[in-house]
Amino acid sequence: MSIILNKSNGINGEITVPGDKSISHRAVIFGSIANGITSVRGFLAGEDNLRTVNAFKMMGVNIRAKDDTLTINGVGLRGLKEPDDVIYAGNSGTTARLLLGLLSRQPFFSALTGDEYLRKRPMKRIVEPLRRFGAHFTGRNGGANLPICVSPGGAPAPVTYDMTIASAQLKSALMLAGLYSTGENVITEPALSRNHTENMLRAMGVDIKVTGNEIRFDGGQEPSGLDIEVPGDISSAAFFIVAASIVEGSNLLINNVGINPTRTGIIDVLKEMGADISLGNLRESAGEATADITIRSSALRGVDISGDMIPKMIDEFPIISLAAAKATGVTRIRDAAELRVKESDRIMTTADSLRRLGVEVKEFDDGMDITGAPVLKCDDTAEFDSCGDHRIAMMLCIAAAAASTPLKINDIQCINTSFPDFLDILESFK
Ligand code: S3P
Repeated sequence: MSIILNKSNGINGEITVPGDKSISHRAVIFGSIANGITSVRGFLAGEDNLRTVNAFKMMGVNIRAKDDTLTINGVGLRGLKEPDDVIYAGNSGTTARLLLGLLSRQPFFSALTGDEYLRKRPMKRIVEPLRRFGAHFTGRNGGANLPICVSPGGAPAPVTYDMTIASAQLKSALMLAGLYSTGENVITEPALSRNHTENMLRAMGVDIKVTGNEIRFDGGQEPSGLDIEVPGDISSAAFFIVAASIVEGSNLLINNVGINPTRTGIIDVLKEMGADISLGNLRESAGEATADITIRSSALRGVDISGDMIPKMIDEFPIISLAAAKATGVTRIRDAAELRVKESDRIMTTADSLRRLGVEVKEFDDGMDITGAPVLKCDDTAEFDSCGDHRIAMMLCIAAAAASTPLKINDIQCINTSFPDFLDILESFK
């Protein structure tokens, strides 16, 4: 599916973005292996999350949806059943990686695959450490790529592992395996990645100790069902936060956005760039902080983004790069090699898109230098491609709102993986 979008005269009004994708996945996974009922209000019914729901239905969990609430009848740590077909994770890295951790400790056979993009993404980071703790995986390229089959493993050894990449998907896979261990699990990460797994398991009664970047907890603890209210996804809000910052004459209020400090890098960096952003109505639910966010358009300047800031905004590089394209001066992004293995190679896909809008971008293995351009424009015949990546597709739509020429964007159906009503919200500003 293709779309042609024009310049916007201002991003004004009040919106609500859909529920957080990471928290919605975890609510289904932990709710399924909890004891008792979990209700999930504000669940994100995007394609990625529905893959996770389907996987647990295939393993015998009763999950019902009514309006935006999901009700999960938890089967407990030992209650999952062998699925009678291959589990299909679609485009969802979180579904695939977290499930590998969980499946590695089940007393049954399972097999997992995904779409053409997910089948290219690295699974070795999950498979290799879990094998050390007894998991039996076989798969393509020695288990480095999906499809992967999981057979019942040996004794469930405690997970003691020093991660070399800051990845919440890896951390959560290790923690899921660790829940089934006999003994104490100790996991460290090089920089703090999103901590929704720790927050939700704690809210479900699991005793987890976090000291700096180290997590300790005993295996065998069964989570208890919980009423969860999922905050709006800051990674979805980010597209409209940047839109309102760079489209002149904007004044936007976004209600009920999750502001977990492991996710707010986008706000920290935009403020450093000179954005006019304020947070109000701060509150907390199921261990997660939320706020209403007000954004007014303002002039932006280039900044340096590196180190511990990277995992705090790992999904926001396509859209922060667009903000950098509209800023004065150079924005330098480094230590972000992980962007090469997201839904697309986001250094390449972002750089290509911006260059076609007249922006100077220099690529590095682990980042980019983006020199701001006063005007974003392309020639009449130019067509842009999402490369099957929802965040590239949405960045291009926001670029159209800020560019002085219309943009034709191809392959935009991937937006449904995380933000099904994105285009309706964008259209509402016309
Ligand atoms: C996610 C973690 C991040 C992020 C992804 C969702 C999660 O990936 O990019 O969109 O829900 O745990 P990594 O943990 O691999 O960086």
